[in-house]
Amino acid sequence: MSNDDAIDRIGFLKHLRQVRSFAATPVSEEALADILEVARWTGSSQNQQEWQLVVVTDPETLRRLGEASPSAGHLARAPLAIVIVMPGERRITDAFDEGRIAERIMLAATAHGLGCGMAWVVASEGAVKELLRVPSERKVRTAIAIGTPDAARRKRKAAPGTARRPVNETVHYERWGARRT
Ligand SMILES: Cc1cc2nc3c(=O)[nH]c(=O)nc-3n(C[C@H](O)[C@H](O)[C@H](O)COP(=O)(O)O)c2cc1C
Repeated sequence: MSNDDAIDRIGFLKHLRQVRSFAATPVSEEALADILEVARWTGSSQNQQEWQLVVVTDPETLRRLGEASPSAGHLARAPLAIVIVMPGERRITDAFDEGRIAERIMLAATAHGLGCGMAWVVASEGAVKELLRVPSERKVRTAIAIGTPDAARRKRKAAPGTARRPVNETVHYERWGARRT
Protein backbone atom coordinates (compact mmCIF):
# COMPACT_ATOMS: atom_id res chain seq x y z
CA MET A 1 0.00 0.00 0.00
CA SER A 2 1.30 3.46 -0.82
CA ASN A 3 1.85 5.96 1.95
CA ASP A 4 -0.86 8.16 0.39
CA ASP A 5 -3.38 5.27 0.50
CA ALA A 6 -2.50 4.62 4.15
CA ILE A 7 -2.90 8.30 4.99
CA ASP A 8 -6.33 8.28 3.28
CA ARG A 9 -7.45 5.27 5.30
CA ILE A 10 -6.14 6.60 8.58
CA GLY A 11 -7.44 10.11 7.93
CA PHE A 12 -10.68 9.74 9.86
CA LEU A 13 -8.77 8.77 13.00
CA LYS A 14 -6.92 12.06 13.15
CA HIS A 15 -8.66 14.97 14.83
CA LEU A 16 -11.41 12.61 16.04
CA ARG A 17 -13.34 14.38 18.78
CA GLN A 18 -15.93 13.60 21.39
CA VAL A 19 -19.44 14.49 20.15
CA ARG A 20 -22.02 15.68 22.66
CA SER A 21 -24.67 17.23 20.41
CA PHE A 22 -26.74 15.21 17.98
CA ALA A 23 -29.38 15.69 15.30
CA ALA A 24 -32.68 13.89 15.89
CA THR A 25 -31.99 11.45 13.00
CA PRO A 26 -32.08 7.83 14.18
CA VAL A 27 -29.09 5.54 13.71
CA SER A 28 -29.92 3.15 10.85
CA GLU A 29 -30.30 -0.57 11.57
CA GLU A 30 -27.57 -1.26 8.99
CA ALA A 31 -25.07 1.05 10.70
CA LEU A 32 -25.93 -0.37 14.12
CA ALA A 33 -25.52 -3.96 12.90
CA ASP A 34 -22.13 -3.11 11.44
CA ILE A 35 -20.98 -1.31 14.61
CA LEU A 36 -21.98 -4.37 16.68
CA GLU A 37 -20.17 -6.68 14.25
CA VAL A 38 -16.99 -4.59 14.61
CA ALA A 39 -17.43 -4.65 18.39
CA ARG A 40 -17.73 -8.45 18.30
CA TRP A 41 -14.26 -8.65 16.72
CA THR A 42 -12.55 -6.66 19.47
CA GLY A 43 -9.56 -8.46 20.90
CA SER A 44 -9.65 -9.20 24.61
CA SER A 45 -7.45 -10.68 27.29
CA GLN A 46 -7.19 -14.43 26.64
CA ASN A 47 -9.98 -13.90 24.08
CA GLN A 48 -12.46 -14.00 26.98
CA GLN A 49 -14.92 -11.55 25.32
CA GLU A 50 -16.47 -10.87 28.70
CA TRP A 51 -18.50 -7.83 27.59
CA GLN A 52 -22.23 -7.58 27.13
CA LEU A 53 -23.73 -4.57 25.36
CA VAL A 54 -27.11 -2.96 26.02
CA VAL A 55 -28.39 -0.95 23.05
CA VAL A 56 -30.78 1.81 24.14
CA THR A 57 -33.03 3.83 21.81
CA ASP A 58 -36.03 4.45 24.07
CA PRO A 59 -36.12 8.25 24.66
CA GLU A 60 -37.18 7.94 28.29
CA THR A 61 -34.39 5.46 29.07
CA LEU A 62 -31.89 7.74 27.29
CA ARG A 63 -33.18 10.69 29.31
CA ARG A 64 -32.65 8.79 32.54
CA LEU A 65 -29.19 7.62 31.47
CA GLY A 66 -28.37 11.28 30.87
CA GLU A 67 -29.00 11.90 34.56
CA ALA A 68 -26.42 9.31 35.62
CA SER A 69 -23.77 11.99 36.14
CA PRO A 70 -23.36 15.73 35.52
CA SER A 71 -21.14 14.85 32.54
CA ALA A 72 -23.53 12.31 30.97
CA GLY A 73 -26.15 14.74 29.67
CA HIS A 74 -25.31 14.01 26.03
CA LEU A 75 -26.77 10.49 26.45
CA ALA A 76 -30.17 12.15 26.74
CA ARG A 77 -29.59 14.13 23.52
CA ALA A 78 -28.57 11.10 21.41
CA PRO A 79 -30.89 8.82 19.42
CA LEU A 80 -28.99 5.74 20.60
CA ALA A 81 -26.59 4.68 23.32
CA ILE A 82 -24.60 1.53 23.90
CA VAL A 83 -23.95 0.65 27.54
CA ILE A 84 -21.05 -1.73 28.21
CA VAL A 85 -21.59 -4.35 30.91
CA MET A 86 -18.59 -6.24 32.30
CA PRO A 87 -18.49 -9.24 34.68
CA GLY A 88 -17.68 -7.16 37.76
CA GLU A 89 -14.85 -9.30 39.05
CA ARG A 90 -12.59 -6.25 39.28
CA ARG A 91 -9.99 -7.78 37.00
CA ILE A 92 -7.74 -5.11 35.61
CA THR A 93 -7.96 -6.83 32.24
CA ASP A 94 -11.73 -6.30 32.23
CA ALA A 95 -11.24 -2.55 32.43
CA PHE A 96 -8.68 -2.74 29.63
CA ASP A 97 -10.99 -4.87 27.45
CA GLU A 98 -13.83 -2.46 28.15
CA GLY A 99 -11.72 0.43 26.89
CA ARG A 100 -10.83 -1.50 23.76
CA ILE A 101 -14.42 -2.36 22.85
CA ALA A 102 -15.54 1.18 23.65
CA GLU A 103 -12.98 2.62 21.26
CA ARG A 104 -13.86 0.13 18.51
CA ILE A 105 -17.55 0.97 18.82
CA MET A 106 -16.68 4.65 18.47
CA LEU A 107 -14.37 4.09 15.51
CA ALA A 108 -16.92 1.94 13.67
CA ALA A 109 -19.64 4.53 14.27
CA THR A 110 -17.33 7.27 13.03
CA ALA A 111 -16.58 5.26 9.88
CA HIS A 112 -20.35 5.31 9.27
CA GLY A 113 -20.34 9.11 9.45
CA LEU A 114 -21.80 9.14 12.94
CA GLY A 115 -20.49 10.92 16.03
CA CYS A 116 -19.93 9.40 19.46
CA GLY A 117 -19.66 10.64 23.00
CA MET A 118 -18.42 8.48 25.83
CA ALA A 119 -19.94 8.98 29.27
CA TRP A 120 -18.70 7.56 32.53
CA VAL A 121 -21.83 6.51 34.47
CA VAL A 122 -20.18 4.65 37.35
CA ALA A 123 -21.20 7.35 39.86
CA SER A 124 -24.82 6.17 39.46
CA GLU A 125 -23.99 2.57 38.68
CA GLY A 126 -26.74 1.11 40.87
CA ALA A 127 -29.43 3.29 39.31
CA VAL A 128 -28.22 2.54 35.78
CA LYS A 129 -28.21 -1.22 36.46
CA GLU A 130 -31.71 -1.00 37.87
CA LEU A 131 -32.88 1.06 34.89
CA LEU A 132 -31.49 -1.47 32.40
CA ARG A 133 -32.27 -4.57 34.51
CA VAL A 134 -28.57 -5.48 34.63
CA PRO A 135 -27.78 -8.04 37.38
CA SER A 136 -26.38 -6.26 40.44
CA GLU A 137 -23.09 -8.21 40.47
CA ARG A 138 -22.11 -6.89 37.02
CA LYS A 139 -20.01 -3.77 36.40
CA VAL A 140 -21.37 -0.79 34.45
CA ARG A 141 -19.02 2.12 33.87
CA THR A 142 -19.20 3.21 30.26
CA ALA A 143 -22.01 4.37 27.99
CA ILE A 144 -21.51 5.66 24.46
CA ALA A 145 -23.92 8.09 22.84
CA ILE A 146 -24.13 7.65 19.06
CA GLY A 147 -25.87 9.74 16.43
CA THR A 148 -25.49 12.20 13.60
CA PRO A 149 -23.38 15.09 14.89
CA ASP A 150 -25.17 18.41 15.17
CA ALA A 151 -22.90 20.29 12.75
CA ALA A 152 -23.83 23.80 13.94
CA ARG A 153 -22.85 23.08 17.53
CA ARG A 154 -19.62 21.26 16.61
CA LYS A 155 -18.15 24.40 15.00
CA ARG A 156 -17.69 25.81 18.50
CA LYS A 157 -15.11 23.13 19.42
CA ALA A 158 -11.45 24.11 19.84
CA ALA A 159 -9.54 24.05 16.57
CA PRO A 160 -7.86 20.77 15.53
CA GLY A 161 -4.22 20.79 16.55
CA THR A 162 -4.79 22.69 19.78
CA ALA A 163 -6.69 19.96 21.63
CA ARG A 164 -3.90 17.39 21.96
CA ARG A 165 -0.30 17.39 23.11
CA PRO A 166 2.14 17.36 20.21
CA VAL A 167 3.93 14.07 19.43
CA ASN A 168 7.27 15.42 20.63
CA GLU A 169 5.84 15.92 24.13
CA THR A 170 4.67 12.30 24.35
CA VAL A 171 7.12 10.11 22.45
CA HIS A 172 10.65 9.02 23.43
CA TYR A 173 12.99 7.31 21.00
CA GLU A 174 15.13 4.36 22.09
CA ARG A 175 15.31 5.63 25.68
CA TRP A 176 13.41 7.83 28.09
CA GLY A 177 14.01 11.52 27.49
CA ALA A 178 15.34 11.19 23.93
CA ARG A 179 13.06 13.39 21.83
CA ARG A 180 13.02 14.29 18.17
CA THR A 181 12.35 17.92 17.42
C1 LIG B 1 -12.63 6.78 30.66
C2 LIG B 1 -13.28 7.97 30.02
C3 LIG B 1 -14.39 8.53 30.60
C4 LIG B 1 -15.01 9.63 30.02
N1 LIG B 1 -16.13 10.14 30.60
C5 LIG B 1 -16.76 11.16 30.01
C6 LIG B 1 -17.96 11.69 30.56
O1 LIG B 1 -18.48 11.20 31.57
N2 LIG B 1 -18.55 12.72 29.93
C7 LIG B 1 -18.03 13.28 28.81
O2 LIG B 1 -18.62 14.22 28.28
N3 LIG B 1 -16.88 12.82 28.26
C8 LIG B 1 -16.25 11.78 28.83
N4 LIG B 1 -15.11 11.27 28.27
C9 LIG B 1 -14.59 11.87 27.04
C10 LIG B 1 -13.40 12.78 27.30
O3 LIG B 1 -13.83 13.91 28.04
C11 LIG B 1 -12.84 13.19 25.93
O4 LIG B 1 -12.35 12.04 25.30
C12 LIG B 1 -11.72 14.21 26.05
O5 LIG B 1 -12.14 15.34 26.79
C13 LIG B 1 -11.27 14.68 24.69
O6 LIG B 1 -12.35 15.33 24.07
P1 LIG B 1 -12.28 15.75 22.52
O7 LIG B 1 -12.11 14.49 21.75
O8 LIG B 1 -13.58 16.42 22.22
O9 LIG B 1 -11.11 16.66 22.36
C14 LIG B 1 -14.49 10.19 28.82
C15 LIG B 1 -13.37 9.60 28.24
C16 LIG B 1 -12.78 8.51 28.82
C17 LIG B 1 -11.56 7.89 28.15
